[in-house]
Amino acid sequence: MTIPLVVVGCGGHGREVLTIARAMDAAAGRPRWRLLGFVDDRPSEENLKRVQRLDVPYLGGVAWLRDAPPDTQHVIGIGDPRVRRAVARRVDAYGIPAASVVHPAATIGADIVPGPGFVAFAGARATTNITVGRHVHLNQNATVGHDCTLADFVSVNPLAAVSGDCELAEGVLVGTTAAVLQGLRVGRDSTVGAGACVVRDVPDGVVVKGVPAR
Ligand SMILES: CC(C)(COP(=O)(O)OP(=O)(O)OC[C@H]1O[C@@H](n2cnc3c(N)ncnc32)[C@H](O)[C@@H]1OP(=O)(O)O)[C@@H](O)C(=O)NCCC(=O)NCCS
Repeated sequence: MTIPLVVVGCGGHGREVLTIARAMDAAAGRPRWRLLGFVDDRPSEENLKRVQRLDVPYLGGVAWLRDAPPDTQHVIGIGDPRVRRAVARRVDAYGIPAASVVHPAATIGADIVPGPGFVAFAGARATTNITVGRHVHLNQNATVGHDCTLADFVSVNPLAAVSGDCELAEGVLVGTTAAVLQGLRVGRDSTVGAGACVVRDVPDGVVVKGVPAR
């Protein structure tokens, strides 16, 4: 039986999430998802055209999900952790469950049980004993080492490396190609800039950048 799926967000991240669902179906050899379409409150004209080219309908604003067909699931295709959190709160209120999509070219350890809404792009790797909260996104070729905790709404952007024993608190964004050295904690809603190297704990609600990250 196929699962009706709606992608929230027509932007680049959302359209990439759609390609992950399609890659899962192609790898399995039989469809798991029935892609109903995209919802987005303020899609640009450009993104609407891009969605059309993917041959998937634009359904309307996020409120479309309130009256979604039975058994519909959603996945939030929004890269910014805090925007994703705000949207998740709305969708949760409609009682629509979150699906997880894992690209067949991602490597997620067998002992990892991600929370709902997990998205793993092609080349993402998470090894062993990693706690993964809700709506966590591991972008292309991002790596997460042993014994980490990724709290709800964490994003690890392309090619970033989170070493073993780290804790990324809720809403953390690790920018593209950044490194977080082993055993460190990045505080709630903090951002690690692209290319940064985090060498000590990062407090809540700050932006750090550079090598070493400050
Ligand atoms: C660090 C970051 C959050 C800063 O964003 P911001 O506060 O809007 O910063 P601004 O663009 O206004 O730049 C402020 C200053 O920081 C510098 N800067 C910006 N990003 C930087 C980075 N990653 N590393 C070092 N310096 C950076 C800018 O050059 C600028 O310097 P200046 O004041 O000397 O001119 C952002 O640039 C970043 O790296 N985000 C991650 C993006 C990412 O991962 N993208 C991939 C998406 S898939």
